[in-house]
Amino acid sequence: MTAADAPAGSEPICYINGKRYVLPSGRGEITLLQFLRGLGNVREGLHPVQQRLAVMHGSQCGFCTPGFVMSMYSLLRSSEEPPTEEDIEDALGGNLCRCTGYRPILDAFKTFAKTDPSAYTEEAIAASKGVAPGATNGTAANGQRVCPSSGLPCDCSAKDGAAAGAGCGGGAANGAGCGGGAANGAGCGAANCCKKANGTGAPLKPSCEPIFPPELKKRPAFALTMPGPALTWHRPASLESLLELKAAHPAAKLVVGNTEVGIEMKFKNAAYPVVIAPTHVPEMNQITVTETGVEIGAAVTLTRMMKAFKGLIASRPRHQVAAMEAVVNQLRWFAGNQIRNVSALGGNIVTGSPISDLNPLWMAAGATFVALGKGTGERAVKASEFFVGYRQVDLKPHEVLYKVVLPFTRPNEYVKEFKQSPRREDDIAIVNAGMRVKLAPGAEEGVWVVEEAAVAYGGVAARAVMAPSVAAALVGKPWDQDTLKAALEAVRQDVVMAENAPGGKVEFRRALAASFLFKFFVHAALALEVGNYHSAAKPYERHPAHGVQFWAPPEAPRVPEEVSVVGQPHHHMAAELQVTGEAQYTDDIRLTGDALVAALVTSAKPHARITGLDASAALQVPGVVGFYSAKDVPGNNAIGPVWADEEVFATSEVTAVGQVIGVVVATSEAAARAGARAVAVGYEELPAIMSIEEAIEAGSFYDDYKGKVECGDVDATWAQCDHVISGTYKVGGQEHFYLEPNNCVVIPHENDEFTLYSSTQAPAKHQKFVASVLGVPAHKVVSKTKRLGGGFGGKETRGIFIHCAAAVPAYHLRRPVRLCLDRDEDMQMTGQRHAFLATYKVGFNKDGRVLAAELDLYNNAGNSHDLSHSIMDRALLHSDCVYKVPNMRVRGHMCRTHQASNTAFRGFGGPQGLMFAELWIEQIAKTVGKPDAEVRTLNMYHEGDVTPFGQVMEHCRARACWEKALSSSDFEARQKAVAEFNAANRWRKRGLAATPTKFGISFTTKFLNQAGALVHVYLDGTVLVTHGGVEMGQGLHTKMAQVAAQALNVPLSKVFISETSTDKVPNASPTAASASSDMYGAAVLDACRQLAERLAPYRAKLPGGTWKEVVNAAYLDRVDLSAHGFYITPDITGFGGTRPFNYFCFGAGVSEVELDTLTGDMQVLRSDLVMDVGNPINPAIDIGQVEGGFVQGMGWLVLEELMWGDKQHPWVRPGHLFTKGPGTYKIPSVNDIPVDFRVQLLADAPNAVGEPPFHLGASVFFALKEAVYAARAASGRPGYFVLDAPATPERLRLLCADELLEPYASPDIRPKISC
Ligand SMILES: Cc1cc2nc3c(=O)[nH]c(=O)nc-3n(C[C@H](O)[C@H](O)[C@H](O)COP(=O)(O)OP(=O)(O)OC[C@H]3O[C@@H](n4cnc5c(N)ncnc54)[C@H](O)[C@@H]3O)c2cc1C
Ligand code: FES
Repeated sequence: MTAADAPAGSEPICYINGKRYVLPSGRGEITLLQFLRGLGNVREGLHPVQQRLAVMHGSQCGFCTPGFVMSMYSLLRSSEEPPTEEDIEDALGGNLCRCTGYRPILDAFKTFAKTDPSAYTEEAIAASKGVAPGATNGTAANGQRVCPSSGLPCDCSAKDGAAAGAGCGGGAANGAGCGGGAANGAGCGAANCCKKANGTGAPLKPSCEPIFPPELKKRPAFALTMPGPALTWHRPASLESLLELKAAHPAAKLVVGNTEVGIEMKFKNAAYPVVIAPTHVPEMNQITVTETGVEIGAAVTLTRMMKAFKGLIASRPRHQVAAMEAVVNQLRWFAGNQIRNVSALGGNIVTGSPISDLNPLWMAAGATFVALGKGTGERAVKASEFFVGYRQVDLKPHEVLYKVVLPFTRPNEYVKEFKQSPRREDDIAIVNAGMRVKLAPGAEEGVWVVEEAAVAYGGVAARAVMAPSVAAALVGKPWDQDTLKAALEAVRQDVVMAENAPGGKVEFRRALAASFLFKFFVHAALALEVGNYHSAAKPYERHPAHGVQFWAPPEAPRVPEEVSVVGQPHHHMAAELQVTGEAQYTDDIRLTGDALVAALVTSAKPHARITGLDASAALQVPGVVGFYSAKDVPGNNAIGPVWADEEVFATSEVTAVGQVIGVVVATSEAAARAGARAVAVGYEELPAIMSIEEAIEAGSFYDDYKGKVECGDVDATWAQCDHVISGTYKVGGQEHFYLEPNNCVVIPHENDEFTLYSSTQAPAKHQKFVASVLGVPAHKVVSKTKRLGGGFGGKETRGIFIHCAAAVPAYHLRRPVRLCLDRDEDMQMTGQRHAFLATYKVGFNKDGRVLAAELDLYNNAGNSHDLSHSIMDRALLHSDCVYKVPNMRVRGHMCRTHQASNTAFRGFGGPQGLMFAELWIEQIAKTVGKPDAEVRTLNMYHEGDVTPFGQVMEHCRARACWEKALSSSDFEARQKAVAEFNAANRWRKRGLAATPTKFGISFTTKFLNQAGALVHVYLDGTVLVTHGGVEMGQGLHTKMAQVAAQALNVPLSKVFISETSTDKVPNASPTAASASSDMYGAAVLDACRQLAERLAPYRAKLPGGTWKEVVNAAYLDRVDLSAHGFYITPDITGFGGTRPFNYFCFGAGVSEVELDTLTGDMQVLRSDLVMDVGNPINPAIDIGQVEGGFVQGMGWLVLEELMWGDKQHPWVRPGHLFTKGPGTYKIPSVNDIPVDFRVQLLADAPNAVGEPPFHLGASVFFALKEAVYAARAASGRPGYFVLDAPATPERLRLLCADELLEPYASPDIRPKISC
C-alpha cells in the first residue's frame, strides 16, 4: 500500500485481501492507501509488475504474491532511475515466500532492472523519440529517464511539465501521462512507452498508474487528537506541544514506526492508553551537519538516516565518516526495507533492546543522546551510559529522546560494525558489536599505537554493554598480535554468561564476541597495511542470484488439428488473480452480518490435570456471544485421523501447550480474543516429556508401532566388515510456515446441513470429523476448498480440531463462525515435521562398500498418533537412500512427548530416513579416506537391485541423475578450485558436495491410492473439471486442466476448475504423497476419455464442426455430457509388502558454499539440480516444485531451528515453542538461495515432483560440512566429526575448532538442539 481523503461524510474503508478495514478518521485526516487492485485487476488488465510475475511463474500458492508486487511497485515508484538487480534483491529482502524458491520472482522483476546502461542514456531515449540528444526537457538525473512504474526507459514524465521522475500520470496534474490520457492503452506515444504490451501476451491495464494526490503532499502538518475506547492518539505539530503532552502523560508511549509498540500490544497484550506520535514535530525530523559531526532527530526514519549518511559519506573526507559507514553497513542488514522505511532512530534506542543493532555502534562511536523535557531543557547523556537495564534507559518520565549527536571520526580512527544472526536478511542479531580505535604512529616505523579504544557488544547481556577490559588491554599498546591476544583474553572477562542464559547459544555468543574483535583487528590492520589474514576481514559480498532451467521440449502434435496442451509451460491458472490480490482464500470469504468470529482457549501447560474452567469473565467481555467446551459437543468429542486419541476440547487432562480446551465466539476478532484470554483455567501440573532423549529415558513410546524393514543377515555380517561405525545422529523438526495459517468458516443451514470452507489438504477428512463431532450424517456436511496459501502437509490433519471447534458454536447458535489462527498459535499448536534421532551401526569393507547397517529411528511424535505411524513407515522405507545395503535392519520407535502432535510435512518422514543414510555414507567415506562422491557411486543401486523391503529397482535412474549432476556441474574441476581457494584463505572456506536422492511414489497405506474426478461439458463448449485434489500452489489444477484439454482436444481456455468439494468427488484421499498429479491426472483422463468416446460419433458426423457444435449435436441427441473418472494405482502392496511404491523418483544435487569460519555466516554460491521428472505435464510448474522443494529442504537442514521449552532450553517456558513467528524462526529469504541456481529435468520417465527434490537440500548441508572439514584441517584437526542438523551458524562456527574457540567450546561440541 502507499497512502486520499475520503469524501466528506463517508466512512473511510479499504479492503485488504478481502478483509474490510475502517481507516482512522479524525478531523478529515486520512492517509491515501495505494492498493494492489488499484494497480491492475483481471477485468481491466494488469500492471506491468503484476503481469511479469504472473507470466513468469512467480506465484504458486499466491499468498505472498501481493506483498512482492507492492514491494516491487514501491521500488519502481520511488526510484528516479531504473533499479539495479542488487536494488531489486534488497527491496525484496523483507518479503517471504515459502513456495517458489524466489528464483522466478527475481527473474520476473529483474526484467525491470537496469542491466544495459546504454539503453538509459539521454541519447538512447532521444533516439527512440527521434529528437537530438539534449533536446528533451531533462527531468531525471544524469539525463536518464525512467518510468517510475514500469522501470523502463520512458519519457511520459516529460509530458505536461510533470515533475522529475513522476512518470505516467504521476506528476501530471491533469492526469495526462500515458495512464490518464491514453484510454486505449496506446500510452504516451513513445516507442518505448511502458504501457505498451511487452511481448508477454497478457493485457496491460491502460490507466493503471494511480497518482498520489498532490493536495495531500502539499498539506501542512497540523496537530491531531484521536480519542478511542482503548487509547487516545495525539499527533502534536510542534516540539512545545509534544513536551507538554509528555509532561501531562508521563506514561505515554511515543510512537513513530510502531514496530516495537505494535508487537508489544499484539503479542504481549500491553495496553497503552495514551500514544503520542512525534512524526510531525519538525525539530525531531531534522538531520543537521555541524562542524564536529551530525545531529539526527529522534523521529528520523532509518531509511532517511541511511540516505543522509550515504550522501555525507560521498561528500565528506573519508576519515570523517568511518562511523557513518559502519551505521550504513549495519543498516543494510537491519530488518527489511518495510521496517526501515517506517521505524525511527528514537524507537530503536529507547526500546533499549539488548540486541539493537545500532546501540553498540552509537556506544562505541562516542555518540551522545540528547533528552528533552518540559521545564528541564536538554540533557546530554553519553550513549555508553544510556542503557541501564533490560529495556531500561536513562530517560525521565517527562522526557523524550530529542536527538542523537554523532561526532565525525578523525584520521587513523576506525569504526566497524558486526552482526551475526541466524539468517542474514531481515533477522535480529545473536550477537552484534560496535568497535572503534584511534591509532597513532608509534616510535618505531610501521608500529601503530592505540590512543583510544571503545568496544561495545549487544546480545551478550540484558543490555548493550561496553567491554572495559578489552579497551584497557588495547589502549597504549601497539596494534600487534600480542595486543590482540591480550584483548581476546579480556573478552572472556567482559563477556560472561550463565550456562542457561536467556537466548541460549552461550558458547557461540561468547565465541562470536572474540571473533568480532579478531575481525576488527584485521580490519584496522589491513587499513594500516600491517599483518595478513585478509580473509578474516573480507566483507560479505553477494552477486545477484540468477538461474538456468533445462527441459526437453514436448513432442509436436501428431496431427495438425490436435491440441498440444500437455507438456507446455503454461503459467498457473490463478496467477492473474494472485498477482492482483483478487484470489480468495478461506479467510477472505465474505459472510452475512450475523457471522461470528471464534478464538480458542488453549492449554498453557505441557502436561496437567484441568482443575477448573470458568468462563464467566469472558462472557462479560463486550461482543462475546458464547463459550463452548467439551460438555457442549453434540456428537463425539473424540477425533484423530487414524487413531481417535485426540479430543476436540480437552476434558480432564491436557498433554501439550496449545491444546484446545474451549472456544469463545464473538462479534469481532478482538472481542473473541479478549474473551478467550479471560477464561480462567485451573491446572495441576504433571511431569512433561519434551524430547526424544527424555522419552527414551522414560520409556514413553506409542507401543502399537512395530514397524521394521529387514533384509539379509545383519548379525552374521559384522564379523566380515573391515570397519564398523556407530553413534547417534539428530535432525531437528521443521515448521511448515505456509503463509496462510490454518483457518476455516463453518456455515449452518436448514435441517442441520453445514458447509465448511476449509484451508485443508483433506476436505473429506474434515467433512467426516465435523459430521461425527456434530452428530450429523456426512451427507449433510459439505467441505469446500478453493485454494490454500500453502500446505506442505501441515494442513492435512491438523486443521481437523480447528474445524470441529468452530463447528460446535455454529451448531448451537445457528450462525456462521469464522476461525483463523494467528501465526504464533498455528506454530505452537498444529505440529511440525518430526525431529528424529537415529542410533546406527554400519559395517563396510576397506573400499567403502557397505555390507551391513542396523538403525533404530526415533521420532518425536508429540501428544497423539496423528500420522506418525505412516511417517515412520516412510522413514524406514527411505533409510537406504540410493544405496544397496545387502544386510539391513531398521526399526522405528514413536516417542510419546508433550509437544503438539507432529505431523505430515513434504517428504513425510522420507527426508529423515534419507538424511541418515547420507550421514552414514559420508562417515564411511571419511573413515576409508575416499572422496564422498566416490563412495556414494560405489554403493549406488543398479537396475534390478532389490531394496531391503524387497522392491525391485525398475527404471532405476539414480546413476543417470548422479552422473548428469556431476558432469554438468563440472564437479571435479570445481573440487580443485575449492581446494585452491581454501589453501589461500585461512578464515573463509568453501565446500562442494554432491548428494543423490530416491523417493518412493504412492501412499504407503494402500487404500489411499485411489482418485476420483467429475467432468461436465456445457453447451457453450466450456468444460468444468472437479477432482479430489486440492490446489495449494503446486499447480495441480493447472496440470489437471491441461490433461482435460488435451484429452478432449480443446484449447486450455475452455477448461475451468473452480474448487475441491466433497459433494462433487466424495471420499478423496488427502492431497499428499506427491501422487496427486498421477492419480487425479489418470482419473480426469478416464472421465475425459469417456466423454471423448461419447462425442466421437458427432465429431465424425461434423467434420468441419466446431467443438461447440459437436457438443450441442450430442446434447440434442440426449448424450450424457458429464462423466465420472476413477483411478487406482495398480500392483502396490502398501507398507509391509514388497511393492509399497508404484515407482521411484530420482535426482541429484551439487552445491557449493562459502563459509566465514569466524562467525558461521555462509552463502550458497551455486547449486545444480537434476531431477528425473520425465515428460512433465507442465515443465514450468515442475521446475517451480524442484526449486521450491530444494530451497525448503535446504532451509530444514541449514537454517530453520525450532527451539522448545525443554531441558536443553530451560530459559523457555516449559512446553512452549520459543520460535513461533517470523522474528525467531527463519525460513530462507531471497538472499539465501543459490547465487547460481541451475535446474535440469531429465526426460522420458513419468515421475512425480512435489516431494522428491526436497532432499536435494542435503547437498548444501554436506557442502557446509566440507567447508568445516577444511577449517578443522587448517586448525590441525582433520577427520570425521558429528554435525547435527540444522547446520546453523552456531554449529558451523563452533565446530571449526580454531584457536579462538579453545576457551569456549570443545572441538567436538554438539550444541543444544530440540529434538
Ligand atoms: C520485523 C522486524 C524486524 C526488526 N529487525 C530489527 C533489526 O534487525 N535490528 C534491530 O536493531 N531492530 C530490529 N527491529 C526492532 C525495531 O524495528 C527497531 O527497534 C525500530 O527502530 C523501532 O522504531 P519504531 O519507530 O518502530 O519504534 P516504536 O515502536 O514506534 O517505539 C518503540 C519504543 O520507543 C519509544 N520511543 C520512540 N521514540 C521515542 C522518543 N523520541 N523519545 C522517547 N521514547 C521514544 C516508544 O515509546 C516505544 O517504547 C525489528 C522489528 C521488526 C518488527
Ligand atoms: S507463492 Fe509465495 S508463499 Fe506461496
